[in-house]
Amino acid sequence: MEVIKTISDLKDFIKDYNNVSLVPTMGALHEGHGALIKKAITEKTQNEKVIVSIFVNPIQFGPGEDFNKYPRTLNEDVIFCEELGVDVVFAPNAATMYGISSDENDNVHLSNNYLTYVCPPYLLVDKLCGKSRVGHFDGVATVVLKLFNITQAKKAYFGQKDAQQLFLIKKMVKDLNLDVDIKSVPIVRDKNGLALSSRNKYLDEDGYNKALTLNKMLNKVKELYDKGVVNVKILFEEAILLNNDDKVEIEYFEFLDFNNLEPVNIVTKNTIVAIAAKVNKIRLIDNMIF
Ligand code: PAF
Repeated sequence: MEVIKTISDLKDFIKDYNNVSLVPTMGALHEGHGALIKKAITEKTQNEKVIVSIFVNPIQFGPGEDFNKYPRTLNEDVIFCEELGVDVVFAPNAATMYGISSDENDNVHLSNNYLTYVCPPYLLVDKLCGKSRVGHFDGVATVVLKLFNITQAKKAYFGQKDAQQLFLIKKMVKDLNLDVDIKSVPIVRDKNGLALSSRNKYLDEDGYNKALTLNKMLNKVKELYDKGVVNVKILFEEAILLNNDDKVEIEYFEFLDFNNLEPVNIVTKNTIVAIAAKVNKIRLIDNMIF
């Protein structure tokens, strides 16, 4: 496996291959990423290469978010990828990706006064995570389009856990006529049901136990749905009871149509139930798609 840090070296590498699959990540890899990587490797065709990008993208973090504190574990991530059979880890730094000075704190030149941004439709951004994370999806769409262009990927793998991200990337691909097949991979959970996330590393024991509330609420919805309850008001009210004593600080708990991200009153096929909550100041998300 190769670890490539510059765009020119990556371009040199891919010129010999007619097909590239990309798994974009911000590192701190866990089994959730492992599922994306394994799927990419299983679906690999002849003369195809699987690239995992590892880049903590500064422009998708808002002021006061955890950019500086975000776990950076490149050495472990490289071993993780190698063991899974990845062909290339692409691990650029911000200077390489955005052509700025190598001073990590050169935030000025990362703003849209200087850089071209890709901005997903406001009506799709101004909900769920986008509502509180202003500018986040512009940063995500911009870096993902850059990664598509740099790697010339024909397939790219994204987790269902970041459901709004997945939705907006598919929309960008459609709207900008990109020749990339977007593959989604189901959420991976630990043995107690907590959706895997790089941010779980921040949880202490108390936080971990409280964090399980997110999945318990989703399971409650599923349990009632399986008994024939489809009315969103009832499902919402029953599930929210599990957050007694305000174990988690809920930011949103919404039922939307996953075809257009519009709210629904009745759960049907392709309804997404999405939740975001802070647990001892750590922001976690989870969802279930029917
Ligand atoms: O989901 C992530 O880890 C990031 O948002 C992504 C897609 C790698 C873009 O930085």
